[in-house]
Amino acid sequence: MNLIKKILVAQTAVVALWAMSAQATTNEAIAERLKPVGEVCIQGEECAAAGAGAAAAAGGAARSGEEIVGKFCTACHGSGLLNSPKVGDAAAWKARADAKGGLDGILKTAISGINAMPPKGTCGDCSDDELKAAIQHMSGL
Ligand code: HEC
Repeated sequence: MNLIKKILVAQTAVVALWAMSAQATTNEAIAERLKPVGEVCIQGEECAAAGAGAAAAAGGAARSGEEIVGKFCTACHGSGLLNSPKVGDAAAWKARADAKGGLDGILKTAISGINAMPPKGTCGDCSDDELKAAIQHMSGL
C-alpha cells in the first residue's frame, strides 16, 4: 500500500468511528428525553416510584432535600419557570418566608399548593419533613 492509500484508509476509519459514537450519543439523548416525567401508581399495586415513599412512610430513611429537589422541584424551581423562586435565590425565598411567617409558613403553602405551584410540588408521597428539607435545600433558609 502506498502512503496516500494508507492515509485515506486511516481517515475513513476515523470518520466511521466518529459517526458511530455520534449515533450512540444521540440514542442516549433520545432515551433520556423520552423517559417519563413521572409515574402513576395505583394503591394496592406494586410500583417502583411508590416504593421509596412507602419506605419513608413506614419509618424507612427519609430522602434528602437534595434528592427531592433533583427529582421533583428542579423542573420549575431550577429555572424559575412560571415565576417560581429559583433554587439558590436566597433573597426571593427569604421574602416569601418573611411574608408567610417563616419556613413553616411556606412549607404549608408548598403542601397545599398555590397558583401554578402544585400540591407538594408534585412529590405526592413526600413527607412534611422531606418537603421541608427540599425547601431548605433550595432556599438556604
Ligand atoms: C410545576 C412547577 C413547580 C414544581 C414542580 C414545584 N414548584 Fe414550587 N412553586 C412553583 C411556582 C410557580 C411557585 C410560585 C407560586 C406563586 O406564588 O404564585 C412556587 C412556589 C413555591 C414555594 C413558595 C410558596 C409560598 O408560599 O410563597 C415553595 C415553598 C415551593 N414552591 C416548594 C416546592 C417544592 C418543595 C417542590 C418540590 C417538591 C416544588 N415547589 C415543585 C412551581 C413549582
